[in-house]
Amino acid sequence: MKDLIISAGQMMLEGKFNVHEKKGTANFVTDKDVEIQKYLIKELSVLYPGCTFFGEENTEGNTHRIDGRCFFIDPIDGTTNYIFGYNHSCISVGMSKNGVMSAGYVYNPFTDEYYEAHRGEGAWLNGRLLKIKNSGLSEGIVAFGCARYNEGDTDTLFEISKQLYLRSLSLRNGGSAALDLCRVASGSNVLYLELMLQPYDYAAASVIIEEAGGVIGTVENRPIMLDKGCSILAGTRKAVEEAGEVIRDYFR
Ligand code: IPD
Ligand code: CA
Ligand code: CA
Repeated sequence: MKDLIISAGQMMLEGKFNVHEKKGTANFVTDKDVEIQKYLIKELSVLYPGCTFFGEENTEGNTHRIDGRCFFIDPIDGTTNYIFGYNHSCISVGMSKNGVMSAGYVYNPFTDEYYEAHRGEGAWLNGRLLKIKNSGLSEGIVAFGCARYNEGDTDTLFEISKQLYLRSLSLRNGGSAALDLCRVASGSNVLYLELMLQPYDYAAASVIIEEAGGVIGTVENRPIMLDKGCSILAGTRKAVEEAGEVIRDYFR
């Protein structure tokens, strides 16, 4: 798997790409997103015959079914970053078995950071075992995500983010939910919040965070969903509890 994910990541760095718009404001897709997803589906179908796929892009083989062994694929998470040269984008592939996440693989080819986790076996960043220190909001950086095509929640999201910012050391919007969630696992962020994401954005990172000793759920403190999108609140146990007190009033 590692070789496959890294070779898919290298595809991001090669050659030029065209940008196209999808439904909604600032919802971009590049030729690379499609090319990488097709490549991953082709190779994973050989490695795991009979598996299903829940990928972001509309390509052949994307079954959108999560039965049996399923791969959640975001071929480029952080497409806007990619288009504008932020060098903060990744390949995100999560694997579930019968509706339960079992492994996560996230790779940023720009920094050569490779995250991998297996349920019950731990999470690693470039071979280093990840163990989250249980820091509170006041001891770390809070990250949040937003998308122009999900504008309905903008006021609520920014109000909550301000509250979290005032209780933390600083606030970031990295532009790649998968990487920003992995940065909870590696200790760079104490918290990650976004009010609407899709399973291919968080599936892989959910295993990486949990195996590193963190927690991930929705803002209503429910388990993440795999068959459709949901909000995400993830972090150290302490930071998530503290954030829960701030956001509880918004989501009764
Ligand atoms: C987006 C990124 C972004 C998050 C958005 C996602 P994409 O994914 O993860 O950080 O805030 O909600 O849609 O479109 O770059 O794959
Ligand atoms: Ca994404
Ligand atoms: Ca994407």
